[in-house]
Amino acid sequence: MRFFVPLHQIFANMSMKKFFGGNKYTPNGYSKEVEEKVQDCIRRGYHVPKRTLLRSKEQIEGIREAGKINKALLDYITPLVKEGVTTAEIDHAVYAFTTDHDAIPAPFLYEGFPKSSCISINDVVCHGIPSTKEVIKDGDIVNVDLTTIYKGYFADASRMFMIGNVSEENQKLVRVAKECRDIGVEMAKPWARLGDIGEAIQKHAESNGYSVVRDLCGHGCGVKFHEDPNVNHYGKAGTGMVLVPGMTFTIEPMINMGKFQVFIDEDDGWTVCTEDGLPSAQWESHILITETGNEILCE
Ligand code: MF3
Ligand code: CO
Ligand code: CO
Repeated sequence: MRFFVPLHQIFANMSMKKFFGGNKYTPNGYSKEVEEKVQDCIRRGYHVPKRTLLRSKEQIEGIREAGKINKALLDYITPLVKEGVTTAEIDHAVYAFTTDHDAIPAPFLYEGFPKSSCISINDVVCHGIPSTKEVIKDGDIVNVDLTTIYKGYFADASRMFMIGNVSEENQKLVRVAKECRDIGVEMAKPWARLGDIGEAIQKHAESNGYSVVRDLCGHGCGVKFHEDPNVNHYGKAGTGMVLVPGMTFTIEPMINMGKFQVFIDEDDGWTVCTEDGLPSAQWESHILITETGNEILCE
């Protein structure tokens, strides 16, 4: 088998090589400015993303499309998240809508996860398994976390739902958790650091008397479900990986009303609960770092 490489492509690569006097770091189609800035970060010894984490034009388009379906899916299940509905019923709707759009629910059989969605209520922090025995009730705060695979590309996002008469306390938790996510997204711009996101989120959560879960983090996402980097929702500004245009990752802070410690349910091996039994809230966005800031792929 031989590869046929068009001449103009060979010349394009050659001139790039000549121009930078070394190997080109960014994928084809990236601007000269981004290439130069990454090279500069490398020279200065900063932690930059592996080059495979910088998405090609084609990958970005694919992840965008997955994001559109995942967002439509979140909108679609919204009227179902109400008192008296079982979490299994929502999960069935997720499976039906996703497959009707020629897509795959990423959670299904992912590392053995048995359902198509994660639904986490009150003191469940994340990875709640939908069940025919779990009925949504008045006063619940519910996280629905959905991930769609479309043509091999992944989009991941979650939202909170408040059912009926939610206590003032829990309403505030849900609101502040969303603010934490939004503040994190605001900090996510090119040439900033991962620690900038973590510190901003942690400050907002803690200044409201809440804590940030440490044992789970956001993650690179797009070509795989979970990939580098880990996106911690706590930390120190000016530290950690440099954010480079073309990276795609999630920001999904889990904010606890009480202490940050969590444990995994021994019976199912998945359900993550707060250790102190107090409620937890989470909103998740999937973003692309652009040359000017970021683009929301799904939320
Ligand atoms: N959607 C979750 C996340 O935000 C991951 C769920 S993994 C599963 O990363 F197996 F529980 F679905
Ligand atoms: Co995620
Ligand atoms: Co998710």
